[in-house]
Amino acid sequence: MLQTNDKTLLRGRVLTFHAAPRDEGDSAAYSYFADGAVLMAGGLIEAVGDYAEIAAQAPGATLVDHRPCLLMPGFIDTHIHFPQVQVIASWGAQLLDWLNNYTFPAETGFADPEHSATMAARFYDLLIGHGTTSAVAFCSVHPASVEAYFFEAARRDMAMIGGKVMMDRNAPEGLTDTPQQGYDESRALIARWHGRGRAHYAITPRFAITSTPEQLEMAGALVAEHPDCHVQTHLSENRDEIAFTRSLYPEAPDYLGVYERYGLLHDKTLLGHSIHLEPREIEVLATTGAKPVFCPTSNLFLGSGLFDDARLRAQGIHAGIATDVGAGTSYSMLQTLNEGYKVLQLQGQKLHPLAAFHWITRGNAVALGMADRIGTLDVGTDADVVVLNPAATSAMALRAEAAETLSEELFILQMLGDDRAVEEVYVAGRAQKALIGARVMA
Ligand code: GUN
Ligand code: ZN
Repeated sequence: MLQTNDKTLLRGRVLTFHAAPRDEGDSAAYSYFADGAVLMAGGLIEAVGDYAEIAAQAPGATLVDHRPCLLMPGFIDTHIHFPQVQVIASWGAQLLDWLNNYTFPAETGFADPEHSATMAARFYDLLIGHGTTSAVAFCSVHPASVEAYFFEAARRDMAMIGGKVMMDRNAPEGLTDTPQQGYDESRALIARWHGRGRAHYAITPRFAITSTPEQLEMAGALVAEHPDCHVQTHLSENRDEIAFTRSLYPEAPDYLGVYERYGLLHDKTLLGHSIHLEPREIEVLATTGAKPVFCPTSNLFLGSGLFDDARLRAQGIHAGIATDVGAGTSYSMLQTLNEGYKVLQLQGQKLHPLAAFHWITRGNAVALGMADRIGTLDVGTDADVVVLNPAATSAMALRAEAAETLSEELFILQMLGDDRAVEEVYVAGRAQKALIGARVMA
C-alpha cells in the first residue's frame, strides 16, 4: 500500500474565535496569526499558531501554502431546505403562495430516490463551493430524501444535521404523511442515521400550519424519546402565516405557544425566522433556550420582515444565522452576512465584521450545541477549514488595496464576497474544492 504522511500543514493568515467579539479591540475573543498555520491529522486539528512554531513540530507534514489567503473554520448554515435547490429564485410571491406555487410542487419530486440522490450531490457541491462545511437542513416528507441527504454527507465525511419534514395537512397529495407515519418514519431514520459518523438527526415538524395537533403531539413524543436530537421548525415569519396559525390553534396564547404546548422547545430547538414576536414568546425563548434563526436573504426576498437581533440579545438570546435556500437567494454565508448587515442597518443596529465572522463559524456552532467539534480551529476539533481570498474579484482587489486593518478586510469579504472568494475547503482534513472541479470536468 502507498504510504503517505497523514499530516497536512496549511500556511496562511489564520483567524479563529473564542467568544463573540464586541469590536476589533476585543482581542481576547479571537486569535489572529498573520503568518499562521493549521496542522491537520486524522481528520482533526492537531495544532494552530505561528507558522514557524507549528512547522517545527511537524517536519514531515505535507505543506500547502495558502498565503496570502485567510484560513478560518468552515462556515455553518443553520437553516436550509435541501429539496429547494430548484426553487431558489422563483418570482413574485410571499410565503404562503410561494410554498403552494413553487415549493410544494418541487418537493414532490423527492419521493424518487434517484432524483434525491442526484440533487444531493449537486447540493453538497454547492455548499462546499460556498465554504459551508456543516448545515442544518429540512429534507422533504419522503424518507428517500433523508436517505440521499445523509448518504451523500457520509460519502464526504461532512457534519450534517437534518430530518424528514412531518406534514399531515394543508399540503398537496404526495407531500403529506399521517401522525403515525411521520412518527414511525422519523424514528426509523433516527435509528439509522443519528450519531452515525458525523450525522445528526433533527426532528422536523415543518410548521404549525402543516401539522395537525395529533401530529405535533407525536413529534413531542419523539422529542421526549430522543432528547439529544435537534428539533427544527418555522416561527412567525409572515403576518398571514401567523394569522392562519392562530386560527388553527385558537387555544394557544401565541404562535410559539403551539410548539411549547407539544413539548417541542429545548436548547437544541431551531426556530427559522422568528421575526414578528410577542413579548411572551421572547420570554419563552429565553427560558427554554430554543434558538431563533435569522435568515436575511429569505426575509428580504419574501418580504417577510426585519429580524430584530438587538431585542433578542437584550434578553440573552443568541440567534443562529442561515441562508434558508430556496427562499434565501444565496448559498453563500458571506452574502447572508451582507444582507444581514443591511437588515440590521434598517433598524439602527450594527453588525461588526468580527462579530459577523464569529456568527457564521463559532456562533452558529454554539447555537447548535456543537462548538466542541465544529466552528473553531481549536486543537482536537474536526478539521473543517475554509480558505478565503479577500481580493477574489477585481472590485474586491481594488478595495483591498486601500484596506489597512483585519476588520476592513473582513468587511470586504462580508459585503462583496461569495463563492469566488472561497479558494479551498477542507472537510475532516481533506481538500474538497478540487474534487468538485474534477466532477464538473468529467
Ligand atoms: N415555512 C414553512 N415551510 C417553509 C419553507 O420551506 N420556507 C420558508 N421560508 N418558510 C417556511
Ligand atoms: Zn425554512
